[in-house]
Amino acid sequence: MKKIIIIIFIIILITGGIFIFTNSKKSFQEKLIDMGYNEKDANVISTLVNKNDENLILNSKYNTNIVDILTNKNYKEDNLKLYLDYLNENKKAPSNFIINIVNLNLTEYKYSKKLNNLTNEKYFIKDNLKRYLNYDKGNANKTVTEVNCNLDYNYYENVQETDLAKDNLMIVNKFYYLKNDFEPEDLVTLDDIYNIGTNNKLRKVAAEAFMKMADAAKLDNISLKNASGYRSYNYQATLYENYVKRDGKEAADTYSARAGYSEHQTGLATDINQINDAFENTDAFKWLSENAYKYGFILRYPKDKENLTGYKYEPWHYRYVGTTVAKQIYEEDLTFEEYYAYYIN
Ligand code: DAL
Ligand code: ZN
Repeated sequence: MKKIIIIIFIIILITGGIFIFTNSKKSFQEKLIDMGYNEKDANVISTLVNKNDENLILNSKYNTNIVDILTNKNYKEDNLKLYLDYLNENKKAPSNFIINIVNLNLTEYKYSKKLNNLTNEKYFIKDNLKRYLNYDKGNANKTVTEVNCNLDYNYYENVQETDLAKDNLMIVNKFYYLKNDFEPEDLVTLDDIYNIGTNNKLRKVAAEAFMKMADAAKLDNISLKNASGYRSYNYQATLYENYVKRDGKEAADTYSARAGYSEHQTGLATDINQINDAFENTDAFKWLSENAYKYGFILRYPKDKENLTGYKYEPWHYRYVGTTVAKQIYEEDLTFEEYYAYYIN
């Protein structure tokens, strides 16, 4: 009896040993097939996964999403464990989302369709995620765009002094202001041939670009003149107060900046030729629409973007940002608010 037990024990030991031995001899690929992967997937996985990382795959559950993750263009080898962990905890998450959420270091957020739509937005900003989720306009594109432009706050609330170090790219709007003593150091006076009206100064770089642009327009028989360039804090204060007296505060706020909040105080903005809606129907406007960006100017308050910029459409108001940025803003059809949030801030 004792002998039989010993023999059975030995047999178990030997078969167990043989099993472990043969299994350890199996290739990674064969083990993947044992897990349930088809030959093609097993082949892809074993080609793409590092020797050191094979156990990460073997220890996680069978999931064909793993192949999609490994072949995603944004896959990062160092993040493999994180992708697999997220996948194990969020079974319905598409591979593209997993890649995004891990790469952005946002794995504390569980998968949801809403989050997926937000992270897929071109101008998604990680630091704004909490604000997107709070604001949530149902449409991810609208949510991202509007929060990036601070529209989850009211105008003139949550204001901060603009970052002067951004120089040509500083933003001034209903959320970013200039102090009352701010005056650019390099203002120059435009020659009379480039100017009408009394606000005839611009920052040097903007003045030079404006003159270059006006010279080029002239060759096309178009006359461009600065009708209002740099305006001091005090000048803007009086201007705004007069509009409030005339039209009331609510109306004035739709077309005039409060003192400290006007882009004209930067010395980088110019109102061209005529400050009224009829300017839109002129050849000068048409020329500017096609050419201003080539000289570094953008149409600052475009039509149909009133809520983003905070102002009514102003076909006459151009802002100098330099040629590279102006071209990108023109091509991507952005407001400066959107550009600033995503590319500068
Ligand atoms: N009209 C523009 C918005 C300004 O007052 O600066
Ligand atoms: Zn203006």
